[in-house]
Amino acid sequence: MPAASDRFAGKTGLVLGVANRRSIAWAIAQRLAEGGAQLAFTFQGERIERSVRELAESVSSPLVTDCDVRSDENLQRVFADVGETFGGKLDLLVHSVAFADARDLEGRFTDTPRDRFWLALDVSAYSLVAAARLAEPLMEAAGGGSILTMTYLGGERAVPHYNVMGVAKATLDSSVRYLAWDLGEKNIRVNAVSAGPVRTLAARSIAGFPTMEAIVEERSPLHRPIEADDVGAAAAFLLSDEAKNVTGTTVYVDSGYHAMGM
Ligand SMILES: NC(=O)c1ccc[n+]([C@@H]2O[C@H](COP(=O)([O-])OP(=O)(O)OC[C@H]3O[C@@H](n4cnc5c(N)ncnc54)[C@H](O)[C@@H]3O)[C@@H](O)[C@H]2O)c1
Repeated sequence: MPAASDRFAGKTGLVLGVANRRSIAWAIAQRLAEGGAQLAFTFQGERIERSVRELAESVSSPLVTDCDVRSDENLQRVFADVGETFGGKLDLLVHSVAFADARDLEGRFTDTPRDRFWLALDVSAYSLVAAARLAEPLMEAAGGGSILTMTYLGGERAVPHYNVMGVAKATLDSSVRYLAWDLGEKNIRVNAVSAGPVRTLAARSIAGFPTMEAIVEERSPLHRPIEADDVGAAAAFLLSDEAKNVTGTTVYVDSGYHAMGM
């Protein structure tokens, strides 16, 4: 674990997307908590409630609540609770949520049916827009804020098996830029980290994930695997005031793989 600092002292944050201790959202949350941030968490569904509550408790979280990002009602309730818990203010928002039907991460992208195409975009991209809109007044009250989402190279290049999730990430990447433009005048920054393969629950549902890991290790300039905490460190930088003039961009934590042509 990295040395503690106080760069998030006095800051409040909401973290969407912890499922278990392997989640990238948890690696980011640990970095924020170590820096002194007070964090609220959401979880999706009873199946993971216990593990998220245990993790949240370990960083003395004052708020842990259920949220399915497909539901506007759920999101409105969460942000109302966050406002109440943090005195009407919010500094940091971590969006680390994605979903596609497993059938669409196996076969051909061409065969993606309409309902499952929209499902992937709804959960993985629109949810950032909805959450940013609800965070806006709380961040404005705080004098500004920082929003961070998680993306992947499969939104920019065709990565076999990533399929509809790649299309969702392309939408997410573009949403980051438009949100950054809209919210910049309120001193709210919006950025993304593009991670190389990290072994998490979501990653396991991608057919051929071990192949993705092997190719990155073989062909990236640094020839080494990516750990969740590497992503946490970059995310913490983007969320911190050290990145006060960084918005609308993507930082790649992929051992340099994105820079290669072969
Ligand atoms: N693991 C990787 O290799 C990798 C690489 C690049 C980007 N990412 C991105 O990182 C983010 C986090 O994924 P992870 O790898 O930590 O896996 P994870 O399974 O730990 O996290 C995914 C989270 O999304 C949540 N989620 C799914 N559907 C939801 C819904 N309808 N409402 C609310 N929450 C919902 C899950 O509950 C889970 O907490 C995702 O956006 C993923 O695409 C992961």
